[in-house]
Amino acid sequence: MTQPTQPPNSERRDFFKKAAAAVIGAVVGVFPALAGLTVILDPLRRKTSASGFVRVTSLAALPNDGVPRRFSVLSDRTDAWNKFPETPIGAVYLRRTGEKTAAALNVVCPHAGCFVDFVAARRGYFCPCHNSAFGLDGKITDPKSPSPRAMDTLEVEIRNGMEIWVRFQNFDAGKKEKHPVA
Ligand code: FES
Repeated sequence: MTQPTQPPNSERRDFFKKAAAAVIGAVVGVFPALAGLTVILDPLRRKTSASGFVRVTSLAALPNDGVPRRFSVLSDRTDAWNKFPETPIGAVYLRRTGEKTAAALNVVCPHAGCFVDFVAARRGYFCPCHNSAFGLDGKITDPKSPSPRAMDTLEVEIRNGMEIWVRFQNFDAGKKEKHPVA
């Protein structure tokens, strides 16, 4: 009686099936690990981009009389999967302090995080939430202001003779000292 014989390429098929299973298993295992690593590193990447200097406007956009103007701050943002170009990350008041110099204040009130208004009639800033009042330089002008500190100043660089770049940061509200938001 003749024994049934295996087709000659059966062993090869088995080998390829096992190899394919091993590759799929490895890929399925590696992707979650990479995604997890990206999530862990993501805040660092965002911090780097948000804490760097951002080009906001040019000196020509600021009046010569030192009256501040409010500008949105836009920056590229990246999460685990996507890149969001030119996304709003905050806002600043900019005012000219000289022919080639400017000063920047974060618009967020250091008391509890409301947006501070510029009031031309007072030549200063006023927070509508709990009535904190600040001068043009951001210092507290009304001693009854509940804000624990002056408005938050930001570093400014003038590049190429006219571009205004701001090192944009947010700071913890409700504290006497200025601590960048972690
Ligand atoms: S949030 Fe501005 S005074 Fe309270």
